[in-house]
Amino acid sequence: MKEPFKALKITENVYWVGAVDWHLRDFHGYSTERGTTYNAFLVVGEKVALIDAVKAPFADEMLSRIASVVPPDRIDYIVSNHAEMDHTGALPVAIQTANPEKVFASVKGAQALDAHFHDGAEITPVKDGETLSLGNMQLTFFETRMLHWPDSMFTFLDSGGILFSQDAFGMHLASAERFADELDPSVLEFEAAKYFANILTPYAGLVAKQLDKTMALNLPIEIIAPDHGPVYRRDLNWILERYAQYAAQAPTTKVVIAYDTMWDSTARMALAIAEGVVDGGGRVVVFEMGKAHRSNVATALLGAGAFVVGSSTMNNNMLPSIADILTYARGLRFKNLVGAAFGSYGWGGEAVKQIQESLENMKIDLVDEGIRVNYVPTHDDLARCRELGERIGVRLVENAKG
Ligand code: FEO
Repeated sequence: MKEPFKALKITENVYWVGAVDWHLRDFHGYSTERGTTYNAFLVVGEKVALIDAVKAPFADEMLSRIASVVPPDRIDYIVSNHAEMDHTGALPVAIQTANPEKVFASVKGAQALDAHFHDGAEITPVKDGETLSLGNMQLTFFETRMLHWPDSMFTFLDSGGILFSQDAFGMHLASAERFADELDPSVLEFEAAKYFANILTPYAGLVAKQLDKTMALNLPIEIIAPDHGPVYRRDLNWILERYAQYAAQAPTTKVVIAYDTMWDSTARMALAIAEGVVDGGGRVVVFEMGKAHRSNVATALLGAGAFVVGSSTMNNNMLPSIADILTYARGLRFKNLVGAAFGSYGWGGEAVKQIQESLENMKIDLVDEGIRVNYVPTHDDLARCRELGERIGVRLVENAKG
């Protein structure tokens, strides 16, 4: 009888044996409107190796795909490139089913797997540059610490030149197609940036260094196979160039305005600021945080030049949706931004100051003392808001000229 799930051939000796999660809509706070994939790969040499696993509920799907190529107990080695549970949840089941000779992870990975599963499974730690022979082909392991966990590593297969890059170069995108060249480029463009912005931005400096280090090895890379989303087999520079650009976080003339409002006053201020940005020559994206998702704001902040945040004051505080986006953005540690705060209030008016403190904690350079409006903005108040936007737009245009 045929297996219900089938492996997909990547090269002569390598198969995709992962899982498609069509329905995932939240990845610990990151909205995944297009679902995701958990990619695992089976390398069939004289020895058989499984590279990474899938999230726990998809263990049967992965094992079925493996069984469509070889019986799972033919697996000699399992390599875990990254300990996060979307790639290791099914690892204990895979180990139990395959009973491999050895399971490999980086030194930090071996510690992390033990701290996750507490099952006494023996994990063999591998060092940066260590190799593993599969008889007629060879795997090489490269530590990629903080890309994006301390345990992260890449595995390179010499046969076919495949770089198994775990989360790096990935994106949350469920699809029946397995290769990037089969998918809509505009979707790839958005989802690749969204993934970087929401997962990798805090380590952008390290990402640039790690990628330089990997590229300096001059590995004959023909295919990049991440753990989420499509595999790159043509035009690898498409994703490599984007990563270099994302990591640089060079400021542009784009202004991101995020606000929330109680009775529309702060909303009107936001729109007047946006109008001014455009007058000043900048570009602008506006998010009302009662309706927008934090992870889409983060995507817009990647490569932005300014972050302008507004909130009404409620019970002596900024609105909870604004506290949410500020906390999220602070964790992502965006660089090279200027900013400002604004908001309407009835009596206390603390929100603007609280936002300013938060922006300063993010090392965002404030360009204004902040605009506070009592209750409903007048014509002149809105003109002040427009003028603030214009000043920011002009400043970003001048910065862009260098
Ligand atoms: Fe896809 Fe860091 O896990």
